[in-house]
Amino acid sequence: TASDEELTERIVAAKQTLGDRVVILGHFYQRDEVVQHADYVGDSFQLAQAAKAHPEAEAIVFCGVHFMAETADLLSGPTQKVILPNLAAGCSMADMADIDQVEDCWEQLADVLGDLDTPDEDGLLPVIPVTYMNSSAAIKGFVGRHGGIVCTSSNARTVLDWAFQRGRRVLFFPDQHLGRNTAKAMGVSLDQMPMWNPNRPLGGSSAEEIAEGRVILWHGFCSVHRRFTVDQIDKARAEHPGVRVIVHPESPMAVVDAADESGSTDVIRRAIEGATEPTTFAIGTEINLVQRLAAQNPQHEIFCLDPVVCPCSTMYRIHPGYLAWVLEGLVDGTVQNQIEVPDAVADPARVALERMLEAKP
Ligand code: 13P
Ligand code: SF4
Repeated sequence: TASDEELTERIVAAKQTLGDRVVILGHFYQRDEVVQHADYVGDSFQLAQAAKAHPEAEAIVFCGVHFMAETADLLSGPTQKVILPNLAAGCSMADMADIDQVEDCWEQLADVLGDLDTPDEDGLLPVIPVTYMNSSAAIKGFVGRHGGIVCTSSNARTVLDWAFQRGRRVLFFPDQHLGRNTAKAMGVSLDQMPMWNPNRPLGGSSAEEIAEGRVILWHGFCSVHRRFTVDQIDKARAEHPGVRVIVHPESPMAVVDAADESGSTDVIRRAIEGATEPTTFAIGTEINLVQRLAAQNPQHEIFCLDPVVCPCSTMYRIHPGYLAWVLEGLVDGTVQNQIEVPDAVADPARVALERMLEAKP
């Protein structure tokens, strides 16, 4: 197998040959050996914008996970090709809501609430579906067809505001934690947040709970972020007086409540880079990002809340070997691992994404 140096040389050489024909996007959770080759590194919202902003490139190589590459395909030009270096880079949270389950949920909600696509006398729909970016294109398409919208962790509040202006309730999926944390911060009480477990009739809630609900939460979660605990925060505070604790909003509610701040990967980055005094930070997010921020900001002490290293195992599947392989393919005129969303799904999914890009705080 090729050494790290050999792979780096191959990637650099292929990139040089391709020039402006290719743009490489990398999520913050990618390993450094991949991030060093990215033209843009960002959170999922910034990378969606970046996918739209490079019409000159023939190909967008997306170093991230499957749903992000699908989103890049939806937002890039019709002839541009989006490539995911390893097709096995999925997201276990996105897999927790499949389109059949969501359609089934929608039918069951209609049994309780009546026709979901007809507004009431105030012009409000009974339910606005809101999907987290971490979901398949098929689900974004469903949302687009039913008056709904996409959100990311950096704009969830703005998007929920958008939805509450148009509907009596929100069905939020797949991440229960982002949904609960955001709705709670907006003043929605916990008893107005029934949970929908797709494996139970009526999601495991009563018809009354659904009818009185404001935000119906889907039963999904991120296996990386659900590992963070209040005990870890207590320990960090005991051992590091004055520590600033910042967590990603995919963390459980008790963890977000115990932290000093919460926000998307880019919010975390900006909080650290914006601190003018040397500070100790305990961070609740994926380890590759935490370690990079620690290396780039030696004036601060930065550590991960979880002492057991917690990488996102699917993000980690983008190995530099795959990056070299897809780039060299492009040099030879071969497109490998293209992500292409079929038109029937792409058109409504794009509607849901464009609503997000246009939603104003
Ligand atoms: P960001 O939107 O903060 O980049 O998060 C994406 C993600 O998958 C977090 O687990
Ligand atoms: Fe999915 Fe969690 Fe990995 Fe983000 S960190 S890509 S939500 S599994």
